[in-house]
Amino acid sequence: METMTATTARALRPVGPMPDVDAPTREARRLSTLLEVSQALSGTLNLKVSLHRVLEILARHHGAVRGIVSILEENGDLRVEAADGIGDGSRLVRYRVGEGITGKVVQSGKPIVVPRVSREPAFLHRAARRPELSHQELSFVCVPISLNRRAIGALAIDLKYKAERNFERSTKFLGIVASLIAQAVKIHRLIDEDKKNLVDENTHLRQELRERYDFSNIIGTSGPTRQMYEQVAQVAQTNTTVLIRGESGTGKELIAHAIHYNSLRAKKPFVKVSCAALPDTLIESELFGYEKGAFTGANARKKGRFEMAEGGTLFLDEIGDINLSTQVKLLRVLQEREFERLGGTETVKVNVRMLAATNKDMEKALADGTFREDLYYRLNVFTIFVPPLRERKADLLLLADHFLERFSREHGKVIKRISTPAIDMLMSYHWPGNVREMENALERSVLVCDGAVIHGHHLPPSLQTADSSGTVTRVSLKDAVAGYERDLIMDALKTTRGNRAKAARLLDTTERILNYKVRGYGIDVRRYKTPEMGRRGPTDTAASDPLHDLPAVASS
Ligand SMILES: Nc1ncnc2c1ncn2[C@@H]1O[C@H](COP(=O)(O)OP(=O)(O)OP(=O)(O)O)[C@@H](O)[C@H]1O
Ligand SMILES: [Mg+2]
Repeated sequence: METMTATTARALRPVGPMPDVDAPTREARRLSTLLEVSQALSGTLNLKVSLHRVLEILARHHGAVRGIVSILEENGDLRVEAADGIGDGSRLVRYRVGEGITGKVVQSGKPIVVPRVSREPAFLHRAARRPELSHQELSFVCVPISLNRRAIGALAIDLKYKAERNFERSTKFLGIVASLIAQAVKIHRLIDEDKKNLVDENTHLRQELRERYDFSNIIGTSGPTRQMYEQVAQVAQTNTTVLIRGESGTGKELIAHAIHYNSLRAKKPFVKVSCAALPDTLIESELFGYEKGAFTGANARKKGRFEMAEGGTLFLDEIGDINLSTQVKLLRVLQEREFERLGGTETVKVNVRMLAATNKDMEKALADGTFREDLYYRLNVFTIFVPPLRERKADLLLLADHFLERFSREHGKVIKRISTPAIDMLMSYHWPGNVREMENALERSVLVCDGAVIHGHHLPPSLQTADSSGTVTRVSLKDAVAGYERDLIMDALKTTRGNRAKAARLLDTTERILNYKVRGYGIDVRRYKTPEMGRRGPTDTAASDPLHDLPAVASS
């Protein structure tokens, strides 16, 4: 390491090697100090604490009577990050880069040694020494802390003045300590950056969730839907337990989110438990957590969902599927807001708002004895019924437009509208899977749609036939027969390449009747006229017909 030549040649003097008899013991002491320093730096995630420990180690083993680690801030100031052996006001001490000896070390990236502080006019004396040291002659050694060849701070220590001290060696040694510190600072900066990214991401996700579950994202203006909004608004701000009931796919989870994100707990966690998805053996440990050793495999204490939801909302989805023994425990939490972890005796108190949802017939479950009545009454303080889609047809068009817009965007398609026949099909279907089924139907339609309009044939098969939809088509017998007749004539004309006489024969009718029907249905026969290979006469106009759907073939 190169020591900076003196700013004032008299005071800052590099000192050459001297005959040395204690070398081996000193080397051993230095190595053990370095080991301690590196342990101190990796021992805690608090940089200030670990730097302070390093300074204490230097004081203990190397006679440093004062030590300071300064780190460069973003604005270019040097801030004291840790100090040992100095007066109280020192924490506020700041230097500018280039100012004072510490500032010069950071600016130049080179160490400076002041063998006798009392004789150095460049010394700023900003960080006070302990009073008992004020009459003593001290030496000052300051080395840069460098990362990627740039000084990011400085390590400075005061030593009692000794005429025979070998400053070259002290500087080298402190240089190694400084490089250990630099690595620790680097790791802390990486961790800080990660932490900041996580916090940013978390804030962003929370915002996104809030927007997603905002009222404005629940689509619908029909009477039953508006009534539901009113109920949500009424109950959201309270701490009341809410039971959300409705068929599968009606939007119960959406309502649960809306309640949470419109409540005073919006900034706290929303934790969901899918009761039906968890086997009976797991549900209690999921809900209440367990202590270490509660069962084989419980290697450490684990928090349950109740504890995770502390301060926020716990949403018990499909509560109708929960087993009887868990129901007893839930009842207690609902009543007392406390429980014990599995295998534990400590009572855990929680501040959690509970929401539950089910698509089960609860009255039947009560009658069958599969659901406890006392728990049901506890849950049923405030019930919101989410109506099935078939009972709010007025929402259907809004929902269809909403999903069309969303899926077109997601799949990068430009689809402008849904054709009238397709809307009729959507309206006449009975939607057993409710909004979820409709969401899927529209996503499928967007995927298979090849133009700018969703047509009837883009909708899923379940909507195609009156049979499976359980509804009667609204087409009259006369229209249906006419549609069938028109299809048959068009098929025959296609087969005979627009030859009406042949088509009439195929359909076992006369050419006169066929012509009459063709005119009646407005069928354009020219569309079916195709030049036959090698037989195309000069009077055949089909090849120049713009409606012709086959390419013209040159006669050979
Ligand atoms: N009013 C609505 N506006 C917009 N999207 C809705 C609406 N209702 C439901 N959805 C959508 O329909 C899907 C199903 O809703 P959700 O999961 O809330 O239903 P659920 O009642 O919990 O069903 P299940 O009982 O099967 O769990 C979700 O993707 C949801 O976003
Ligand atoms: Mg659900």
